[in-house]
Amino acid sequence: MTMNLYTYFINNTGRQIIKCAHYFPIYERYFSRYVNRPVTFLEIGTGQGGSAQMWKYYFGPMARIVTIDIRPECKAFEEEQIHVRIGSQSDTQFLQSVLDEFGAPDVVLDDGSHHHDDINVSFDYLHPRMARDGIYLAEDLNGGYWPQLGGGLRSPNNFINRCKGFVDEMHAAATLYGDEVVAETDITRTTSAIHFHDSVVVLEKTPYLNHTMMIIPPDDPGRA
Ligand SMILES: C[S@@+](CC[C@H](N)C(=O)[O-])C[C@H]1O[C@@H](n2cnc3c(N)ncnc32)[C@H](O)[C@@H]1O
Repeated sequence: MTMNLYTYFINNTGRQIIKCAHYFPIYERYFSRYVNRPVTFLEIGTGQGGSAQMWKYYFGPMARIVTIDIRPECKAFEEEQIHVRIGSQSDTQFLQSVLDEFGAPDVVLDDGSHHHDDINVSFDYLHPRMARDGIYLAEDLNGGYWPQLGGGLRSPNNFINRCKGFVDEMHAAATLYGDEVVAETDITRTTSAIHFHDSVVVLEKTPYLNHTMMIIPPDDPGRA
């Protein structure tokens, strides 16, 4: 029998993991399709290495867990299937070196500095370069309301506020018929869904979305 992620977490006696309890159903909702698949999972923020071990356990033997952190001591948390690279999530040259080494990640989970300057740089660099059907999850976004983390209720730097704008970008084609047109962006072309949870935003990518309105059968056979 497989244990769910939350059961693993609350029974963890190994390396420390720092997560909010309500994230676990969110993880399972979006990540379960990668279980036992050859997934490349990139977590920003290694911490004490416990979460990388949890992802390795959860995704199974086909998974490659890549985790990045600014603290050199995190390198010690490497083991089979777990690759640790040292650098800042806001250093795009470093991020590119990770992409060069491991290819486009299927999943990116941002649990790094939680400063919204950094969250934005990582997102802007990694999201267009990750798998075309990938999942980008940023957590602990409650900090986006705090100026000390580069945010604020109305701050355009608050990643939650940017994601509210992404909802409009996702609907750019619809705005052509409205009172204000939103320009098409990479988000428009690649996003199938944007999910807002408490302190977590999940963006789902897709290479293609069929928007065709279909009426099937074209004539209602029940209509007299
Ligand atoms: C909340 S901890 C990560 C916890 C870990 N993911 C877990 O679930 O147990 C945040 C980590 O982000 C790292 N960090 C802080 N600023 C960073 C940056 N600019 N780039 C990459 N990592 C950073 C910290 O050193 C720390 O280890």
